[in-house]
Amino acid sequence: MAHVTIFDTTLRDGEQSPGISLDPSEKLEIAHQLARLGVDVIEAGFPVASDGDFLGVQQIAKEVGNLPNAPVICGLARATEGDVRRCAEAIAPAATSRLHVFISTSDIHRQEMLKGASEADIIALTTEMVSLATTLADQVEFSAQDATRTETGFLKEVLKAAVDAGAHTINVPDTVGFTMPSEYGDLIEEIVALAGDAVVSVHCHNDLGLAVANSLEAVRRGAGQIEVAINGIGERAGNCSLEEVVMGMTVRHDLIGKDTRINTKEIGRTSKLVAQLTGYPVQYNKAVVGRNAFAHESGIHQHGVLANRATYEIMTAEDLGLVGAQLILGKHSGRHAFVQALRDLGITLDEARVDDAFAQFKAVADRKREVTADDLEAIVVDTADVGSEVWTIEMAQMMGGIATAPTATVRVRHVAEDRAVTEAAVGDGMIDAICRAISRACGVDDAHLEDFRVSSITAGRDALGDVTVTIRRDGTTYTGRGLSTDVVEATGRAWLEALNRSERLRDARKGRTHSNF
Ligand code: KIV
Ligand code: ZN
Repeated sequence: MAHVTIFDTTLRDGEQSPGISLDPSEKLEIAHQLARLGVDVIEAGFPVASDGDFLGVQQIAKEVGNLPNAPVICGLARATEGDVRRCAEAIAPAATSRLHVFISTSDIHRQEMLKGASEADIIALTTEMVSLATTLADQVEFSAQDATRTETGFLKEVLKAAVDAGAHTINVPDTVGFTMPSEYGDLIEEIVALAGDAVVSVHCHNDLGLAVANSLEAVRRGAGQIEVAINGIGERAGNCSLEEVVMGMTVRHDLIGKDTRINTKEIGRTSKLVAQLTGYPVQYNKAVVGRNAFAHESGIHQHGVLANRATYEIMTAEDLGLVGAQLILGKHSGRHAFVQALRDLGITLDEARVDDAFAQFKAVADRKREVTADDLEAIVVDTADVGSEVWTIEMAQMMGGIATAPTATVRVRHVAEDRAVTEAAVGDGMIDAICRAISRACGVDDAHLEDFRVSSITAGRDALGDVTVTIRRDGTTYTGRGLSTDVVEATGRAWLEALNRSERLRDARKGRTHSNF
């Protein structure tokens, strides 16, 4: 059975979503999970963007790119010699590397983005840069940016030039989410006809909500690769969602007739991990992984599902790994049981990480009667090494109530300088008070709250509260996440994590040549 390559761009196009700023260690965590999920290619970043981006891609190439059955590790480059060489260096440690070269081809992009480059210029650059890339990486992918708004004759000439220069994959991006399934399918068929042995790839944005539909139609019409992002994150309205397109191909195999190597039982966990680390929540009614995707509300539906789930379900939550064994641990569970529970969930951590996660598990178990599989997964993500901490929190005391001004006192420590600072602040409420006290203690007076979200990991009054805050400093947004049975404490932790991230990333961001394109 024909197999379609799943090319995941969560860490590149996905990371271009406004407000998402992943640290290299978070990217690595996601890359490991993508490998477990079974994606064929991981686009790990845009190495020329900054030294941080370069190192992030290089680290993924080294670690994830050399696992048994490792995915191909890909980096993105504009069609310039500097970009191509820098990208090749970042992906070189992978067992199989892919260099993804792109250039804009539509009239509007050539005029506005490439200083009026002519069609002949574009073809010459394509030939030159694809040829160079073939000498520097195992595989070369070429993308004609804004392909769906490019005059078809010219688009075909450019893509043919890329194939002749040695491109292994030619990508036809619907960069602005403009096309419709029948039109895109016709275009893909024409391109498959000129591609020879090269794989034709599709990269669909979701501006009209059609990214998945367009990708499925393209596969039906001969595309051999789909570019996707977990939870559909990406520029503007995002990219084609991995979970939706893969389940579309699985559930309607009768129509599409192509397979993937995705282990669908890892979809649920991957979706949660990406939502937690990016701070982008999954909408309740999102197809496949939304909280309501398998919830049945009306009496008639519930009756049907009780008789036979297939009355109202076309796939099961078990297929997606969304309902694991209802494993329960409590405060008397020891380290051995904890490690075994992680193993049962398919999670293996190194010793240092087990120590951190176990300590956090104990703290949670002291406050919460039952620690479930969902809690454990959240704890593991929460202990991910998000980079060296600038400040840590040592103590927080909150006072509030009716007719008293909410007050928080905190002690934080500057790790590098080994210096403790204690400060207090009054706020509009307890949450405001703790954020003000932390900012004051860290000497930060320019952090503004942009977004604040609380959700609970499981049901119940003692549920773990999962708080994500987004702050703005110097025109850039940073997210932080905190987990605790106490929402005020979780907020304080999230606020401090966002401040730490802003301290670490502010300098790196200043050096960025292009954060998006
Ligand atoms: O949307 C787009 O055109 C892209 C390219 C760089 C492939 O992301
Ligand atoms: Zn894109």
